[in-house]
Amino acid sequence: MTEITRIDLWQALDSRGTPTVAARVQIGSHAATAIAPSGASTGKHEALFLRDGNASFDGLSVTDAIAIFSKEVIPALIGISGNDFFELDRTLRSFDSTPTQSRYGGHIPVAITIATWLAYAKRANVSPYEVIAQHVGAKSSLPMPMVNIFSGGAHAGRAIDLQDILAIPTMASTFQEGLEWIWRIREHSKKILVKKGFDASLVADEGGLTGKLSGDEEAIALVSEAIDEANLSGKAHIALDIAASQLFDGKNYVVHESGEEVRLDSIGFVARWRRWITEYPIISVEDGAAEDDEEGWQEQSQLTSQIQVLGDDRYATQRNRLRSGITKGEANSILIKPNQAGTLFAALSTLKEAKAQGWNTVVSARSGDTEESWLADLATGSGAGQIKVGSTHRSERTAKWNRLLELSHFRAAPFNSEQALNKFI
Ligand code: PGA
Ligand code: ZN
Repeated sequence: MTEITRIDLWQALDSRGTPTVAARVQIGSHAATAIAPSGASTGKHEALFLRDGNASFDGLSVTDAIAIFSKEVIPALIGISGNDFFELDRTLRSFDSTPTQSRYGGHIPVAITIATWLAYAKRANVSPYEVIAQHVGAKSSLPMPMVNIFSGGAHAGRAIDLQDILAIPTMASTFQEGLEWIWRIREHSKKILVKKGFDASLVADEGGLTGKLSGDEEAIALVSEAIDEANLSGKAHIALDIAASQLFDGKNYVVHESGEEVRLDSIGFVARWRRWITEYPIISVEDGAAEDDEEGWQEQSQLTSQIQVLGDDRYATQRNRLRSGITKGEANSILIKPNQAGTLFAALSTLKEAKAQGWNTVVSARSGDTEESWLADLATGSGAGQIKVGSTHRSERTAKWNRLLELSHFRAAPFNSEQALNKFI
């Protein structure tokens, strides 16, 4: 018996203290819970997170949405096999077939489909990553971590324009070693930040350091110096999440240099960060142009043999958007965020397609995340290659690192020493 016998939904809090939805799915006597994450720099093509907009939590509550969904949709989900991710997706989309799930939002479906996967794993008496490996038809591997060191943008009160400056322990031979290298880089970054007169005990939404530096380049130089001081130059590299949709006013990009506002067109904006990749050990750039800035994305097609050109808001974990990016040859990798896709099945379909087309895949948490660790199993089971869950600080981040350390300890899968990234070094 693998059929869903009961689903409960209630309101919970995410790591920013914002209401979100929790789902508990029961398969006979086996039950599991999953809580939906949510972004701050959300893209316009991703599945929506619909909030009630009434007096409760200043409009942010989700209890009305839960009540409506429980009445209208849940009865149709009872009886579906917990291992039939496709049927669950098909049934959910029969109630709301819009790409952004504009009727009920994607937050409830994503929580339910993740909880179903976890309940099924319990029922089958296997680890969650093993169920994912079966669905994706992949060889499991522990992902290369891409870890936030310094935050700006929507995650740190716009201290700098860039959203994330991250480090990747590219030459680490085990997951543990990689995580320790990252810890060293963060500690050295902290010391440099203190020397500059900033308070390094404050952490941003994803656990990264932050401070109102003179601009983006000073922050990149800081992380680059920390890598050198940690004796990791050539062994660890920098990734940027520019989150360019946040800086685009529809025509121009608005950035800051030494406190002065600078407006750049698409070509000028890409040229600005392109210079950084020649001066600093940067091997991955995420959302280097705004989600619908065709010219900015076309400009990046020239860089696909030099760096990991990574799309987040641009593809929003949607398979049709990924296909269009592949046809245009504008990038070579995609961020996979289950809640952008709205269901687990849709997220896995996008991930599978990307891998089949030779693109790199980076499984990612959200800036508003939860204490759950299933994302680590998703990245491992799917053999995604890379994972991005924020910094080494804050429990909603360490939940994922600690699960990966557990999987590593029990030799669940080999560490992916990322051939796909090594070609950019
Ligand atoms: P978000 O940020 O969760 O706030 O969207 C994460 C990212 O942009 O990768
Ligand atoms: Zn991003």
